[in-house]
Amino acid sequence: MPNIIILMRSEYSVPSPPACGGMKGGCNDYLITPPLTPPRKRGEKDNQTANYIPSPLIKAEGIEKRFAIDDQPVEVLRGIDLTLFAGETVAIVGPSGAGKSTLLHILGLLEQPSRGALSFQGVDVRQFDDYKLAELRLTNIGFVFQFHHLLPEFTAQENVMLPALMRGLSRSEAADRAAYILAQVGLKERLKHKPGELSGGEQQRTALARALINAPQLILADEPTGNLDADASQQLRELLWSICVERQAALIVVTHNTELAAGAARRLTMRAGRLYSLNT
Ligand SMILES: Nc1ncnc2c1ncn2[C@@H]1O[C@H](COP(=O)(O)OP(=O)(O)OP(=O)(O)O)[C@@H](O)[C@H]1O
Ligand SMILES: [Mg+2]
Repeated sequence: MPNIIILMRSEYSVPSPPACGGMKGGCNDYLITPPLTPPRKRGEKDNQTANYIPSPLIKAEGIEKRFAIDDQPVEVLRGIDLTLFAGETVAIVGPSGAGKSTLLHILGLLEQPSRGALSFQGVDVRQFDDYKLAELRLTNIGFVFQFHHLLPEFTAQENVMLPALMRGLSRSEAADRAAYILAQVGLKERLKHKPGELSGGEQQRTALARALINAPQLILADEPTGNLDADASQQLRELLWSICVERQAALIVVTHNTELAAGAARRLTMRAGRLYSLNT
């Protein structure tokens, strides 16, 4: 595996989660990421009181996005409001070019909106610099991209390890955790395969494992079943739902797959840069 540690900036690395304790049951400990919200001040109500109102995991208000092509503005998002609490699942459907991936990139802090407000666990992220955004992404958000973006020279296990290494885990811890998660997605016999030696469905599951390794509270999945046959697609669907339930992770999934969309608690459609509810 090429030396990728040089990509890390130690001053921005986040503390390591607790050790795995081998692979015997201890690995679930690290699935609990510390919350981003600051510690309670004296006199503040705690989570147990009836009056406690949790911050949304993510809250987007009036999000707009425009690009400029040849000095001509291209309006892609035209005022998106979306609030998501921990453990909630949302599916977004809509025609090609409607702006679904653009919205996911903004919610995943990969792109800045042109206008609008965005907060994560009650913290306004608009003023965050690139390093703070990267840290927030690394510790809280798992992205399954429309095209899996696995690195072809790395094995499945190495691909999955990368976010954990960037988070500051040792190589052996990261390798253990990657093996554990790959086993969870049914790939324990494929750890040493490079992406070109995996089927399309296996590549997607590897990408899902990579999105999960840092135990994100928010999973953003862009067409995770695109290019999969019916069986592989059902497998990935079941996997996504069981992981959300097991980890209480929130999920926003963009999909053309009606069965996948039907499994989400909230269904939205995007048309010409605006979101509409499909729930009856
Ligand atoms: N970097 C960019 N510069 C200019 N235009 C862009 C850029 N990124 C996206 N767009 C435009 O924004 C529109 C929405 O793109 P987006 O990828 O969000 O669509 P989508 O709903 O995800 O479509 P699909 O279902 O085909 O994946 C498209 O018309 C696209 O051409
Ligand atoms: Mg897209």
